[in-house]
Order: sequence, then C-alpha cells, then structure tokens
Amino acid sequence: MNSDHPNRASTDQHSLEQQTFTVTTPLYYANALPHIGSAYTTIAADVIARFHRLQNHAVLMITGTDEHGQKIQRTAESLGRDPQSYCDEIVPGFTHLWHQLNIQYDRFIRTTASPHHAIVKEFFYRVWDRGDIYLGQQKGWYCVACEEFKEERDLLEQHHCAIHPKRQAEWRDEQNYFFRLSNYQERLEALYQEQPNFIQPDIRRNEVLSFVSQGLRDFSISRVGLECGFPVPIDPSHTIYVWFDALLGYITALLDPDVEPTLENALAKWYPINLHLIGKDILRFHAVYWPAMLMAAELPLPQRVFGHGFLTKDGVKMGKSSGNTIDPVQLVDRYGSDAVRYYFMKEIEFGRDGDFNETRFIHILNADLANDLGNLLNRTLKMAYRYCEGRVPNISGADIPDDNVLKAIGADLGDRVARHYYALAFHQVGDAALSLIKMGNKFVDDQAPWALYKQGEQQAVEQVIYAVLESVRLVAYLLSPIVPNLSNAIYQQLGFAVDFNAQHRHPQTLSDVSTPFVIHANWGILPANQALGDPQPIFQRLELPITA
Ligand code: MSP
Repeated sequence: MNSDHPNRASTDQHSLEQQTFTVTTPLYYANALPHIGSAYTTIAADVIARFHRLQNHAVLMITGTDEHGQKIQRTAESLGRDPQSYCDEIVPGFTHLWHQLNIQYDRFIRTTASPHHAIVKEFFYRVWDRGDIYLGQQKGWYCVACEEFKEERDLLEQHHCAIHPKRQAEWRDEQNYFFRLSNYQERLEALYQEQPNFIQPDIRRNEVLSFVSQGLRDFSISRVGLECGFPVPIDPSHTIYVWFDALLGYITALLDPDVEPTLENALAKWYPINLHLIGKDILRFHAVYWPAMLMAAELPLPQRVFGHGFLTKDGVKMGKSSGNTIDPVQLVDRYGSDAVRYYFMKEIEFGRDGDFNETRFIHILNADLANDLGNLLNRTLKMAYRYCEGRVPNISGADIPDDNVLKAIGADLGDRVARHYYALAFHQVGDAALSLIKMGNKFVDDQAPWALYKQGEQQAVEQVIYAVLESVRLVAYLLSPIVPNLSNAIYQQLGFAVDFNAQHRHPQTLSDVSTPFVIHANWGILPANQALGDPQPIFQRLELPITA
C-alpha cells in the first residue's frame, strides 16, 4: 500500500496494516569523493525516511554509486588505474560519510554489482522485444561531465557546456542503439496532466513540460569504444549508455540480499518507488527518460520526482570546477552531524538554491538550538528540580486549560508538521517547531514561575512547568528526523528511555508502554510524575574557527 499522502499523525490513523515507503537518492558518480551536494540530497532522503518510520511505515531508503561511463573511465585512466579498483577505493568515502552524518540507508547499490548486470540485461530484452530499441547513427555534441548529448542551442560559445562552463562538449558521429523516446511523447504528457505531483516543485515541472512540448527525440543508449559498462546483450561491440544502466540501479536495489536477481523478485515488495530525490540538473533523466523506459517495459511508474536546487557558497555555485566545494567530512568533524543536518534542512527551502556561509551557519545553530531550544529546556528542568522535586508535575495535559497558549499552538502542531514533511518543506518543519519554542520562552518570562512560587501558587507553577516541558518534548519528537541525537538528549532529560536512532533496526520498539509511538506527535502526553534526568546543555554553542 502506498503511503505518500498526508495523513494525520494521530492514533486513529495508526492502522495495523503497514504501509511501505521507498525513497532514493541519486546514485552518485564514483569518480570522486562525495561533496556537500551529495550530502545534501542524502540528508533529505534520510530525514524523509525517518519521518515515515515514525509513522510506522516500512521504509526502504536506497542510495549508492554509479560506476560506469566515460567520466569514470577517463578519471581512472588519467590516474593510471583500472576503473573497478579505482571505484573500490572511492566507495568507502561515501559509506563513511553517510555513517558520520547518521544516515540510515537500507540499500547501497553499486552499478558494477553482478545482480545489477542481470537486471539490466532482462530489462533491455523486455524493451527490445517490444520493438523500442533500434540501431541508428548518432551525431551530436557530448558533454562527458554530464554524460549527455547536448542540443546545439543549449551550449555556450565554442560548444562549452552550460552546466560545466569550463568543459567543451565533444563531437560524436557513430552508430548507436537508440531508445524510441518519441513513441512516448503523448503518454508522458498524459502522465504529467493526470499526476500533477509527479514532478515537483512546480518550477521543475514547468521546465519538463516545456522541454517535452518541443518534441521528444529518440536517445542513444549505447556507446562504442567504451569499456566501462555492461555490453549490449544483443551486440557486445556496444556498451550500454551509463544513464540507461544507472537508472535501473533503483530497481536492482530493491532486491532482497541473496535472492535471484530477476525483475520479478526486485519488484515484489518495494515497488513502485514513492519518491526519487534528485538535483535539478538530472531532472530530464528522471522525469522524462525514466518513466518512458518503464512504460516501454510495461512497468508501473514512480510516484514522485523531486528536483532540489543547487548549493552555493558565499553566493557562488559549489562545484569542483569552481574549486569552492566544502568538504562534508570536515564540516561534520567540526560541528557534528545534527548541526549540519539542521542547517541544510532548516535554512534552505528544499527546491530552491541555497547558500552556505559559515558565519551564518554558526549563528543559526546557536540561535535556534543552543539559545531557543536548549535554554528553554535547561531553565525549565532546573525549575522542575527546584519546585517539583525533579519530576514532571503530577498533572496531565488534559488538566491544562485549552486557552493555554502553548497547548493551543501544540494542539495541531503534529498535523501541521506532518504536512510539511509530506510536502518536503523541511524549512517549514523547522519554523513551525521553533515557533512553539519561542512562545515557550516568552511564556516562562511572562508567567514568571519563580514569582508564582514565592506567592505560594504551586498549582500554577506546575501548570507552567508541565506546559513548557511538554512543548519541548513535542518539538524534540517532531524534529527527530532532522536532529535525532539532539532529540535523544532531550527525551533522556525528560525521563524517557527512547533512542530515535534505534527505530531503523527495530521499527516497532519505540512504543511507549501501552501507546504507539506515533501518539507522541500529540501535545499533552508527557507522563505525570515521570522522574526527570539531570539538566545538561543539549547543544554546545559553536565558535567560528580562528581561520574562518
Ligand atoms: N550518476 C548520476 C546520477 C544517476 S542516478 C540514477 C549523477 N551523479 S552526480 O554525482 O554527478 O550527481 C549526483 C547529485 O548531486 C545530483 O542530483 C546533483 O544535482 C547533485 N549535486 C551536484 N552538485 C550539487 C550542488 N552544488 N548542490 C546540490 N546538489 C548538487 O548525476
């Protein structure tokens, strides 16, 4: 059953039937170590995967590496290496970074793996048998960095690529096998009309509609004189085009380990894919070529393709050619995984380009996590120790009047945040959650529980403390897909024995005694009298490095 629809994060929605949710990152070229652009998509995929796990969905998160094509072959050759051993050395750089960033992926597919070869072969024959592949003559400008033929009109002066302005496209005139994309013009247009959410956000959808409306041309799916790739099954003098092969990696990744690598097995449980997360530069492959390939093979289509923007540094697009990439490993080493995850999710509207600036990075984290969230928890916990013997006050959420400002905001916060997650509006998740925290700080200042205590207003003091602790708890729960370690620290200080990272291994174990964990999305569930942990800062203020 498909789960990519907003549903209310409340108990009545907690169905016993487990929904599945399959999400992919692009399969990154293994020609170089990952940079922050790769980390960006992978963090977003992990966040949405974790959100679905919180909803008790069965989740499969797919990532991996693309290890074929001219780009890899040339990089390896320039270093005097063979492509396979070169990729073998690069791949741990990806898996290491994903662990550092606390990414809970389920499948890591390498396109050189032998089960993938079997899937590509079977798929090729399926399309061949239906008559959508033929031999023809390919003439055109090829950008090796994009691994794509370019229309003359899309190139800059002297045939330089618009995406890689320092690279010149190369002229090719050779026999290739072609995929009959032109056969699918109408069906693709119908798809975009009937499923308006197939391509998101709107700006990307419009780009695709405009591209398709110019008329689709068949594209070549083989290369000659290229070793790095699988041979074309019907003609081994040709190598399968890297994109035709790589897109199928999403299907290979669905295979359970140790099963026979057939399409039937691959499609049995996790197909169709709910969400492909990609950068805007590879939209055409995912929103045009890929659905057409699947139509040709008579397979169901993915539900949604979301093309996010580019990261820039101090205003300039980040890329190896500009020499302004940020090393994600260093960034996580210096600031920790939650800080990096939070900044990119909260500060950049997913879908638009976004900037990285270290001063701003530090400012945002200190303001939101150390000051607003961290201080609110810390000051309130200390009051709970002073006025309530280190326990949650002996009241329940229902005892707090409905016009309590925190209860009023908290009442539908879980629903609102869930909608933002479904829409992949991660910055709005952050804004909505932080609004409750800001109100919490104001509420404490306004209510001045220390004064109420002196006046002997114990009941009022307890209501303030309960309302604030419960609000911090709710925010920790709702932000846990983004900052799981921080949420763990908050939950522990509130007296829960919960590990948000464990849900990946034990999806059902986060049940709180008698209630399913999803109920934690509601305001008012903090157990009365629960013993609290020691108040400790949950987020250390960050300092700018001296060299920055
Ligand atoms: N191998 C193909 C994908 C095949 S998927 C079946 C590929 N790999 S890539 O390594 O070049 O790019 C992977 C992703 O990184 C793309 O989605 C691309 O948009 C993203 N990014 C590369 N530079 C980026 C930024 N500066 N900012 C954000 N993402 C960027 O394409």
